[in-house]
Amino acid sequence: MNATAPPDLDFPGRDQLVAAIDAAVAAGDEHAVTATLRASLCQLIRDREVQLPACVHEPIAEHYARRELYRSPTHGYSVVAMTWGPGQGTPIHDHSGLWCVEGVWDGQLEITQYELLERDGDRFRFRAAGGMQAGPGSAGSLIPPHEYHTIANPSPDAIAITLHIYKAPMECCSKFQPQAGEWYLRTDSTLETDKAA
Ligand SMILES: [Fe+2]
Repeated sequence: MNATAPPDLDFPGRDQLVAAIDAAVAAGDEHAVTATLRASLCQLIRDREVQLPACVHEPIAEHYARRELYRSPTHGYSVVAMTWGPGQGTPIHDHSGLWCVEGVWDGQLEITQYELLERDGDRFRFRAAGGMQAGPGSAGSLIPPHEYHTIANPSPDAIAITLHIYKAPMECCSKFQPQAGEWYLRTDSTLETDKAA
């Protein structure tokens, strides 16, 4: 792969995964696309015909790992595998206005959605609107503006792996640091990807 080519890793089932996403993104509006993608992703994970590259099974000590496996030259979507070491997780964050479908490949994740109650400049007031535990073969979607959430691997000893399909590469997002009570301060954050090979 040369430096300017979009990411496109080779792994068993890569063609099947790309074909399923290509078919889903042609489904219509973002509700239809994400619903189709959720169903396809659950099926693909359960079939176990796709084997993600070995690097995806390696956690990174300092932060959860984000490895971009594929970027569609025709449709523009981006496929990112994330590896969550024991206890690793995110602060409340948004998705920069992009729809996303997230499937759990291995392990268990705790996902909490937040409702935006009010906003004062960069200060946001959130309330947890529901949490769920998600295991292998489950998938969820986010459609802005309902995009505020946290993800965490609650396990003390097991890693978790998730596969995320974004409408377009997500290179930045807002993260929200807790202040007093339900108030959080927004910070703009650049999202790095980790080496995938
Ligand atoms: Fe997220």
